[in-house]
Amino acid sequence: MKLNGKIAVVTGASRGIGKAIATRLASEGAIVAINYREDAKAKPAEALVSELNSKGFKAQAFRADVSKPTECHTLLDDVAKTFGRVDILVSNAGIEHFGKLEEITAQDFERVFSVNVAGQLFVTQAASRYLPSGGRIVLTSSVSAQISIFHHTLYAASKAAVSAMVLNLAPELGERGITINAIAPGGTATDMAKENGKLYTHPALQNVSPEALLKSKASLQRLAQPEEIAAAVTFLVSDDASYVTGSTLAVPGFLTSAEKSLR
Ligand SMILES: NC(=O)c1ccc[n+]([C@@H]2O[C@H](COP(=O)([O-])OP(=O)(O)OC[C@H]3O[C@@H](n4cnc5c(N)ncnc54)[C@H](OP(=O)(O)O)[C@@H]3O)[C@@H](O)[C@H]2O)c1
Repeated sequence: MKLNGKIAVVTGASRGIGKAIATRLASEGAIVAINYREDAKAKPAEALVSELNSKGFKAQAFRADVSKPTECHTLLDDVAKTFGRVDILVSNAGIEHFGKLEEITAQDFERVFSVNVAGQLFVTQAASRYLPSGGRIVLTSSVSAQISIFHHTLYAASKAAVSAMVLNLAPELGERGITINAIAPGGTATDMAKENGKLYTHPALQNVSPEALLKSKASLQRLAQPEEIAAAVTFLVSDDASYVTGSTLAVPGFLTSAEKSLR
């Protein structure tokens, strides 16, 4: 129980990697605020809360669209009011984008950057008002920030911005004894990967199954399971990571052998 009694907020926690992180933090003894985006999506979040409660873990669902700075602040205010304090923020919510240069619109830019960049910055700002010395923040980047993929410019740029944010917020938050890091997952078996997997390769190969394509790029010849990303996040928010800040921890399994199994 590495996180006994800690209050943790996980954004975008009702499915995918966020769900695995929330589940793991709860199993380590944290009381977890499960963030979901909109009322129509409350059911999966409530189902996760019930599942965790039935195992004897503590969790509660909180609605907030992190692309709206005021809702980031309301989220942290609500969690602090409910549980008395906040110790850990895991900013996981994110959206994908693929598009050719000539097809990217100002609206696409605004949509992707408002969630993946502004959403992570303002939820951090909101949490920093509550985090004590020893507090932990983990944002979500991606291996996509380090690799060339056709038509992935907008998403990759948004994830590269996250690494720059943690690097530059580290001294400011470090003065208060708070660490901030990013996690950079490789291809992970979630809805996001299912929906976009085939776009991760040359357009000529896009009739190959998305799973086969993502696997072909992975040194470990498989996608990550969300629980494997959650394990790395658990390290970063634990006392074991007390001297880790400003870093982007890659959990890639990924891309040293591009298209290997397709050859
Ligand atoms: N899967 C991968 O291969 C992979 C690799 C590298 C990085 N990542 C990153 O890891 C994170 C989680 O990815 P995933 O694969 O678990 O994605 P996912 O299955 O698509 O889940 C994304 C989660 O983010 C939530 N979300 C999106 N916009 C939001 C908003 N404005 N406010 C609050 N919540 C919002 C979604 O809520 P709804 O249910 O309402 O849509 C959902 O719960 C993302 O930041 C992603 O970019 C994923």
